[in-house]
Amino acid sequence: MMSSIVLISLEKFFGKNHVIKNLNLEIKHGEFVTLLGPSGCGKTTTLRMIAGFEKPSSGEIKIEDRTVFSSEKKINIPPEERNIGMVFQNYAVWPHMTVFDNVAYPLKIRKLPKGKIKEKVMRMLDIVKLTGLESRYPYQLSGGQQQRVAFARALVFSPSILLLDEPLSNLDAKLREEMRFEVKDLQKRLGITVVYVTHDQSEAMAMSDRVVILKDGIIQQIGTPLEIYENPINEFVADFIGNANFFLISVNNNIAVIEKLEGSQKVAVKNIENGSYKAIVRPEDIILGSGEGKGRILKRAFLGKEIVYTIISGDTTFKVIAPKEQLFDENENVSFNIKKLVVLKK
Ligand SMILES: Nc1ncnc2c1ncn2[C@@H]1O[C@H](COP(=O)(O)OP(=O)(O)OP(=O)(O)O)[C@@H](O)[C@H]1O
Ligand SMILES: [Mg+2]
Repeated sequence: MMSSIVLISLEKFFGKNHVIKNLNLEIKHGEFVTLLGPSGCGKTTTLRMIAGFEKPSSGEIKIEDRTVFSSEKKINIPPEERNIGMVFQNYAVWPHMTVFDNVAYPLKIRKLPKGKIKEKVMRMLDIVKLTGLESRYPYQLSGGQQQRVAFARALVFSPSILLLDEPLSNLDAKLREEMRFEVKDLQKRLGITVVYVTHDQSEAMAMSDRVVILKDGIIQQIGTPLEIYENPINEFVADFIGNANFFLISVNNNIAVIEKLEGSQKVAVKNIENGSYKAIVRPEDIILGSGEGKGRILKRAFLGKEIVYTIISGDTTFKVIAPKEQLFDENENVSFNIKKLVVLKK
């Protein structure tokens, strides 16, 4: 089956600054893929290259099996001919235009007849739940409604691909969570491919079919949220996706002994050569109240239905997430058991 977006050996320099390094990625039809990484890692630059607003230094981009950029073949199709919708970081709806005119704009520049424009705009406003607000100006709308105007404008010309650059970052926390579901729902109903950019790992985990973790312009790992959470390829990824405790371990005959803890902690591992490694343990994979490990509660923080404990054992501190029924006091001694760890390959 043909892919929606293919990026081949993409490179981007800004002057001497090498910001995208040999980026290869294939995105399927109707897939929701998120580019996740810290500020400056190259997320926006990658989106802008797909959209055609930024010219790659070299490499190739294919959209729906059509080469839209190739440094070798000297192809560079302009943005308006790539049939891609985009919502930017600061969603920028035009303040001097009504909701209707904002959404109609992409159709006007494509010179559709008036009647057709009206029909398409009204249908789009219905899809994003803005029916009845078409003659309002953006300042008469809430943040979430303005946001929907931006989505409607990006989708009104029926693009096959939607690029979203931190589209929820201007919204408050509660609305942001609601909008996650709306965006996901919209994508499913329209059956379009979405490339989503965020530095918020929980947003990425909640929405994506696959996540691409970027650091300094280099892809670190590609996988489903669960694959990446359970098998992070390196320390950076482990730390970026969810919380992680790092331990030094020594492995002997597939038994890992965790070093620098009080009390012995052994965890079975699979197919790991004897030697010393770094390992990560998720805070929910440490069970308090029983086991060989001996520690003391340093800090306790309530998070609704869970409690986050900071524990010190030997000369190591780590975090544990426990159900709220497991109540320990600060400074209380506690035993613990590490259920599971992920060995980071050298
Ligand atoms: N037009 C430009 N000219 C020069 N350097 C640029 C330009 N645009 C981006 N850069 C640089 O390229 C790198 C990647 O920038 P980019 O905007 O892609 O990061 P980002 O991952 O989107 O970050 P953020 O999360 O802060 O939005 C940064 O070092 C940035 O300073
Ligand atoms: Mg950006």
